[in-house]
Amino acid sequence: MSSTILVTGGAGYIGSHTVLELLNQGDEVIVVDNLHNASETSLNRVKEITGKELTFYQADILDTDAMDKIFSQHKVDSVIHFAGLKAVGESTQIPLTYYHNNVTGTINLCQVMAKHNVKSIVFSSSATVYGDPQALPLVESMPTGIPTNAYGHSKLMIEEILRDLSESDPDWKIVILRYFNPIGAHESGRIGEDPNGIPNNLMPFITQVAVGRRDELSVFGNDYDTHDGTGVRDYIHVVDLAIGHLKALDRIKEDKGVFTYNLGTGTGYSVLDMVKAFEKASGKTINYKLVDRRPGDVAACYADASAAKNELNWQAEFGLERMCEDSWRWQSNNPNGYKG
Ligand code: NAD
Ligand code: UFG
Repeated sequence: MSSTILVTGGAGYIGSHTVLELLNQGDEVIVVDNLHNASETSLNRVKEITGKELTFYQADILDTDAMDKIFSQHKVDSVIHFAGLKAVGESTQIPLTYYHNNVTGTINLCQVMAKHNVKSIVFSSSATVYGDPQALPLVESMPTGIPTNAYGHSKLMIEEILRDLSESDPDWKIVILRYFNPIGAHESGRIGEDPNGIPNNLMPFITQVAVGRRDELSVFGNDYDTHDGTGVRDYIHVVDLAIGHLKALDRIKEDKGVFTYNLGTGTGYSVLDMVKAFEKASGKTINYKLVDRRPGDVAACYADASAAKNELNWQAEFGLERMCEDSWRWQSNNPNGYKG
């Protein structure tokens, strides 16, 4: 049976890929995005790829009146909550903005949801809540760590707020998804990651070097305790991640409470592994230089994804080669992202 899903931040990178999968599965989709870090073009392209319609509101989750109106106009079954600010470095410069947008924004959203008796939410958390891993792979039952920046703190705070909410009102159905490192793009090459300014993350930086927008990649540190000294992460295809959200919604169709899952592949690759894999997939050479470590980075971070496999019936399907091919298709077809 089809459901009506309200997606906050649905015009963004992970949001647009998830909206596409929801439409393909036959759900009604309402997107709320203030377009702070996105373009409506992503949603127009999702409509073009799927041949389906969606409802879009350019609105801020902090705007109670606007949110109240949207929930009054639609009979929403569940919310997938992507809206948030996510630049780690920026969060150390403007922490209050990050806490206000991410934490207050989520509180506001949950208050409006409760008022309209919508008590089902999937939340975008992050592997960053584990802090510096005490052991690998990371399992959901491990204690969370101490995030090194306001962004990470905001994610951990929201997780705790959602647990308190469920404690106070057991009717809530909440899935907390801890993403590892999403890369790749839809196979059409029509939607993908389009960061503003200089990319913070590895893959968009690599693709911008490949397309000629940047001269060379800086590899942050080659003296970590990893197989080649560079940082190791669990890269996951954004389409796999998107499908994880559909499975999360299935999980809370029946069961109330809070459920927390890692969404990763379980395999870690180093920065230099990524450079090599991308070069192979794209046929381009990626110039790079080795520089100092980036403050706040951990040596290695990868998931134990068995809880999602056992309880959500989800596992990542796409490997590294496909992730690199799809990232490159998106970037080479759209050298300036959605700006043309
Ligand atoms: P994104 O910036 O592409 O998407 C976030 C969207 O939220 C944007 O479209 C932005 O315009 C919108 N937004 C921000 N604040 C808003 C507000 N107050 N009201 C309405 N809309 C607002 O980022 P993404 O990579 O798609 O990430 C989605 C979510 O996943 C975020 O919460 C992010 O913190 C989380 N996450 C991302 C990663 C990653 O590496 N991309 C990793 C872990 C967690
Ligand atoms: N790196 C470089 N050069 C760059 C960018 C990154 O060498 O220009 C390295 C980093 O040092 C790290 C790896 O590439 O070893 C991955 O870095 P990213 O910035 O792509 O990703 P992070 O693991 O630091 O963080 C990302 C998101 C966070 C999220 C986390 C979850 O940015 O929001 O994944 O694991 F919390």
